[in-house]
Formats: sequence, structure tokens, C-alpha cells
Amino acid sequence: MQTSLRFIIIIFLFSFVAKSTSAQTYNQLWIPDTLSGTTFNLIMKDTMKQICHSGQQTITSGFNGNFWGPTLIFKKGDVVHMNIQNKLNDSTTVHWHGMHLPAVMDGGPHQVIPINTIWQPYWKVTNNAATYWYHPHLHEMTEQQITKGLGGLIIVRDSIESALALPRTYSVDDIPLILTDRSFTSQNQFNVVPYGDSMVINGTMHAQYKVPAQIVRFRILNAAIERSFNIGFSDNRNFSIITSDGGLLDAPVSVNRYLLHAGERIEILVSFTSQSGQSFDLKAYNSTLSQNIAGGDIFTNGPFVNALAKSDFNMLHLNVVAQTSNPITTIPTTLTTNVLINSTTANITRHLTISDSAGVTTPTILGPNAFILNHKLFDIKRNDYQVPLGNTEIWEITSSSAFGHPFHIHDVEFNILSVSGAAPVAAQAGWKDVVFIPGATGGGPGNPGTPTVVKFIAKFDDYADSLHPFMFHCHISLHEDEGMMGQFVVKDASSSSGVNEATGLMKDFSLYPNPAGSKLYINFEDPTMQAYYVRISDMLGRTKLMLPRPQLLGGIDISQFAAGTYFLQLTDEKTKQSVTKKFVKE
Ligand code: C2O
Ligand code: CU
Ligand code: CU
Repeated sequence: MQTSLRFIIIIFLFSFVAKSTSAQTYNQLWIPDTLSGTTFNLIMKDTMKQICHSGQQTITSGFNGNFWGPTLIFKKGDVVHMNIQNKLNDSTTVHWHGMHLPAVMDGGPHQVIPINTIWQPYWKVTNNAATYWYHPHLHEMTEQQITKGLGGLIIVRDSIESALALPRTYSVDDIPLILTDRSFTSQNQFNVVPYGDSMVINGTMHAQYKVPAQIVRFRILNAAIERSFNIGFSDNRNFSIITSDGGLLDAPVSVNRYLLHAGERIEILVSFTSQSGQSFDLKAYNSTLSQNIAGGDIFTNGPFVNALAKSDFNMLHLNVVAQTSNPITTIPTTLTTNVLINSTTANITRHLTISDSAGVTTPTILGPNAFILNHKLFDIKRNDYQVPLGNTEIWEITSSSAFGHPFHIHDVEFNILSVSGAAPVAAQAGWKDVVFIPGATGGGPGNPGTPTVVKFIAKFDDYADSLHPFMFHCHISLHEDEGMMGQFVVKDASSSSGVNEATGLMKDFSLYPNPAGSKLYINFEDPTMQAYYVRISDMLGRTKLMLPRPQLLGGIDISQFAAGTYFLQLTDEKTKQSVTKKFVKE
């Protein structure tokens, strides 16, 4: 009796200690809200969030909140209209990573949104169902603005994905996971550094989450500045990868580890069936990474030193709970039939290089060791390629860099043809917009070894624009900011259609009514004239509204403008010339 009582007391004490420990150790994983429909309002703000366990809040930035942003849900075929308001204390841009859209809507370094300005891009969603994301892309500021928390997920749905029996109850059995790492000052503020000392998942440190005892889908984004994550579970279970960056794979690929690089996404299915009551950890098995993979290198001093280097660490603690009422309990055997681009249809092979730029001096921390594309640092005024509209192109990237780089291209989703001569692994044999270029083998600092060659193929079927380029770059934000980036325009060679810098002067237009109330209309002298860009600024030259390729029939909504005098600059689609006219808002 006494023994069993003592036993019960011990059990009681033990469970009390266990509970209070877990309450102290874990924070509930934050799940971003969702926005859906066809009009999306996003306000970018500098704000604060309690990220660290104790002490001060961290100064952060977010879209509609205090870290990161809402998950945007798009339906393939819809035209989506974005209403982006920059209330930050700095200029920014918002790039729709992976989306196929016109360059003028793409949000690269050319579409700068000044402070207190509204930018309204829109486009038809043509991407496959998968997970994409949005993030700032202001040149030389991307690392800093992403570090502060700016970014968000995009979920595209389509009829093929919808017809499959897959988990899709957001936050219940369809869970977004945004992998990042951060380093904090003693005052709990972010250090803007390539590697953090703490895992931060969905803006949460030491996160835990409840998953039902059934098939659960995780949409995983590597949103880190530099680090790659070798994803696995603490019990070494297998999981099924169902998407690459830009769409479903033909069939699920079962693995127990997957190395995800900066900018990449995968969706995975994991079975927790009959495991209710058990707990597991989603981990990064980064102790196995080689030195030339981001996160596998140990530094003893300088800005790259970090506590997570070449080690295994927990990302998310998972507690399995009861099944939901309509659980998915089987993993489909097939998903879709991808029709990949036939390599014999390529019009051209472009040869790109990646190298360690000994001798190219950059002003910031990488100094003379910046990594470069095509032996050049990025120059926002230099166009690197003109891609003829309609081209199918093979991009062959030869890297003599001792380090591995995740290479990303805007505008298109591509198919990997080969990595060091081998066909892509099954989980990458679909649509991609980031491809990892492994470091040159046998090399080391100052010794290039044997270069690595990666080839992909893409089609540049639409959205010709001679003015606004698309970017290609390393998705390690530090490398990108340091100049590991280039740009290309898609050029329509035919004179009969699309963009063409016709000679001659742009036709005239007028603004009415003037003074205007809540709506301002544009009357074109030539009814075939189209606006390429409308930009409205106030008397002090401060931009208020940026409208790429605006649809002007319904007028421009100026109801939010204070009374006063404004300037409207209109750039004509055909000639790309601009004329500015004055109007008064009553
Ligand atoms: Cu996610 Cu050009 O970037
Ligand atoms: Cu991108
Ligand atoms: Cu890089």
C-alpha cells in the first residue's frame, strides 16, 4: 500500500515536472492566416514580436501582421489583383517567387515601391497547384528585409490537384512550415547575418504542434538567408514528397531525408496513423552535410560563425492526437502526368558560369571572395540576355566555385536535364524554379577542382517586355545582395504584335474630370493606345500610386488621396515614352 502510494506520488510528480518542462520548452507553432479570392490587400509595416522566450520583443517587419505574412490562396485561371501598401520605413519590392507573370508585375529589383506608396500588380494565375512564396527583392537589401520577417506563402490550387484525395484542411492536416534560422543580439534584436544560432519555424522558436493520427501534408519552404536543411524525422520514418517547386510530381517519392536549399519548396505526406499519443521531432540532420553545402561548414570566427553549423537540430516537436472526422489515410500511388520539355526542341544553349571571384572587390563582408555569375557582378543597368519570345532554351551552368549555390530564375518553371551528367533525382524530375549547383569537386579555397555542370530547359512563351527584365540569381540572399545576379528581357522580334519600340512620338491623352473626386479617367487621343505604366506622385515628388499595365476603363481610384495637386506620369505601351500631366484632387 505504502509502496504503491509512493509510486503514485512519484508518477504524479514526474508527470507534473514533465508537463511544466514541456510548457516551458515549447511554444505553439504560429500558423499564418489565409487570404483567398481575387483581390489581396497587403500592408507592409515595421513592427515588433515576442520571438525570444523572455526579455524584449524583436523589431520585425510583416505583411498585415508582426512577422511574415498571410498565406495567399490562388486558383489557377483566376486573375489576381494585389494591393500592396508600403508602410515600412524603407523602400522595398515584393517578388512573387515561382509565379509566371509579366516582368512589370514580377516585383524584382526594378519595381521599387517607395515609402507610403501603393503598388497594384495583377496577373492571370497559370502556375500548377503547388506552394510558392512572396518576398522583398530590393537590390542589396534582400537579406536585411527577409531577416526582419518579410515574406509569405502562396498556395495555388488547380483541378488536377483538387481531384486527388489529399489532405487540404489548412492548419489541421495541411500545414505550412517556413524554415529559417536567426541570430539575436543580447537585446533580442536580429543580427543581419547569413546564419542564425536558433531555428525559427513559422516565426516560432522551440515550436510544437498537434497533428492528427492520419496522413498529414506539410508544405515546406526553405526561407533561410543561406542555410540548407536536411529534413528528416526523429524516428527515421519515411515520408512522401509529392511536389517539386512548381507542381505535383508524377508519383510520390518516398525518402527518409531530403536536402532543401534556400528558396526551394516541397510538399510532403507523412502518415501518423495509429500513433495517437506519441511524439516525434521534425529535424534537420545537418551534421551529415559536407563543408561546401550551406550549413555544413564550421567557422571559428567572423560573420559566419553559428551555433547550428554542421549539427543535427530539432525544427518542430509533433504531438500526435486523435484522428479528424474525415481523415485521409492512404497516400495516392500516382499524382499527375507531367509533360516535360523535350530537350531536342531547344533553340539555344546558353552557357553560364559560377565562380569564386578572387580579385573582384565588393564593398561588403564577402570582400574579394564574392561569388559571381559569368565573371561579372550584378549591374542593374546591364541586361545580360535577350531571350526571343517563344524560345525554348537550355541553360548550362558550369560552376568552378568550391561552394554549392541554389540557382533561381524568374518568369519560368524549368525541368532539370542533368546534374553532373546524371538525370535529376525523382523528387526533382518535375517543375522547378531553383536548382542546386553542387560545389566543384576536389576543390578548396583558391582551388577550383573539377567544375560542376547543371543543365535545365525552359520555355519563354509569353510576356515579352523590352523595358522590364527578369532576374536570375543565387537564392542565398547574401550572395544575391553581393552581386551574384543577372537579368534578361524576353524580346518579341516580330513587329506586328506585342512590345516594340516603335519610332515616333507617343500620342496625347487627357485627364478628366479635373479637378477630380474619387475617380480619375484617362482619355486617349488614339483609342488603340495602351498604358504600360501609370505613376501618380504629389507636389513634393513623392510617389503615391504605381499601376503597371493598368486597366483604365473603370477609372483610377483616387478616393484615398488628400485634396491637392498631383502629377500623373503615363508610359505608353508601344513607344515606352512617358508624359506627365497635372490634376487636382478635390
Ligand atoms: Cu525568391 Cu529572385 O527570388
Ligand atoms: Cu523568384
Ligand atoms: Cu550562392
